[in-house]
Amino acid sequence: MKPIGTPLSTHALRVMLLGSGELGKEVLIALQRLGVETIAVDRYADAPGHQVAHRAHVITMSDAAQLRALIEAEQPDLVVPEIEAIATAELQALEAEGAVSVIPNARAARLTMDREGIRRLAAETLGLATSPYVFCDSLTELQTAIDGNADRAPIGYPCVVKPVMSSSGKGQSKIDGPADVTRAWDYAMAGGRVSHGRVIVEGFIDFDYEITLLTVRSIGADGQPETSFCEPIGHVQVSGDYVESWQPQRMSPLALQRSRDIARAITDNLGGQGLFGVELFVKGDQVWFSEVSPRPHDTGMVTMTTQWQNEFELHARAILGLPVDTTLKSPGASAVIYGGVDANALVFDGVAEALRVPGTELRLFGKPQSFVKRRMGVALAHDTDVELARVRAKQAAACVKPRAAD
Ligand SMILES: Nc1ncnc2c1ncn2[C@@H]1O[C@H](COP(=O)(O)OP(=O)(O)OP(=O)(O)O)[C@@H](O)[C@H]1O
Ligand SMILES: [Mg+2]
Repeated sequence: MKPIGTPLSTHALRVMLLGSGELGKEVLIALQRLGVETIAVDRYADAPGHQVAHRAHVITMSDAAQLRALIEAEQPDLVVPEIEAIATAELQALEAEGAVSVIPNARAARLTMDREGIRRLAAETLGLATSPYVFCDSLTELQTAIDGNADRAPIGYPCVVKPVMSSSGKGQSKIDGPADVTRAWDYAMAGGRVSHGRVIVEGFIDFDYEITLLTVRSIGADGQPETSFCEPIGHVQVSGDYVESWQPQRMSPLALQRSRDIARAITDNLGGQGLFGVELFVKGDQVWFSEVSPRPHDTGMVTMTTQWQNEFELHARAILGLPVDTTLKSPGASAVIYGGVDANALVFDGVAEALRVPGTELRLFGKPQSFVKRRMGVALAHDTDVELARVRAKQAAACVKPRAAD
């Protein structure tokens, strides 16, 4: 890796973020603090990360030609994907040509771009425990997967259906019995990011709790890759979307060890440098792999109040080949603030009341457009008692009342 230089000069170290939402914005800030020249890319103007980068671009990131043209024009030293829906095959081609270095690498970006690549790698190649699953291309195939046939055991009820390409719970629903199957299929077809009609159906895991295990691959003092783990983050999802998280989640020593083993296996295989969000389901000492993001994770926003180096700083350091420290500073929690309205610009009432809740902080992302269910901000709280931090984060989030500007 070339050394950090001076931004906006010929000696700059340049990093391009593909996706510049609230997570990308924090990565950009962390890079800015280290004197990196930053380029923020998103599909719409004035995205959160656009507002804090040296340069901002609006392109369709799933369009191979547009992506190549921008990378060739900007010539970044590193390309850092923040979202899944990008032309990852083109990134692979550019990486193979030596034109760019992708974080953690183009193969990992491609494998985690949809649910199929990563699930098959985890379950079939690495033999990690996952929910039972089948990929289906039609309603008939879905029904057969649930019922089973001569070659395959039934997935059974309850089960969960998700479009192969989607995130934040979009198009995802639970099926409790035969009467729900058609509705779940139609919902997945309407909610998928790309309308090619493929879904995964998974057996429902009756877990006690679920965690995100933030796992960092950095370069150690000996110049070799090194893996570090953050304290586990517990979270609550509503309709497949994260609403609150806390750190640390208390776990049995065996469940924690198994979680780390799974996280290490999957991140070793994906390789490269950076932070990964490994999602796991836990019941007693049993642990299932769910999915992994090769980048900071939304539930990990809590680390902005709980760790000496938050997940964005860890990602920035790791990708630059710098040492990392995953130590917890204080237990804490996060709670999401939704837009609550469809509007072009928002005004936030109650910010002072929110910040009067002891030990709290806010992040308002600055998104130019609000939807009822769009994440517009997050409340953070720290306390020696993680349960009290959860109460306070939710209390602070509830004080913030977004409304349409006019
Ligand atoms: N097989 C399952 N059994 C039980 N719960 C599940 C299962 N699959 C998903 N869920 C629940 O739905 C949530 C979202 O699922 P998943 O992470 O696969 O979707 P996602 O759309 O990628 O979400 P995100 O992008 O926000 O991580 C999980 O965190 C979990 O709470
Ligand atoms: Mg998830």
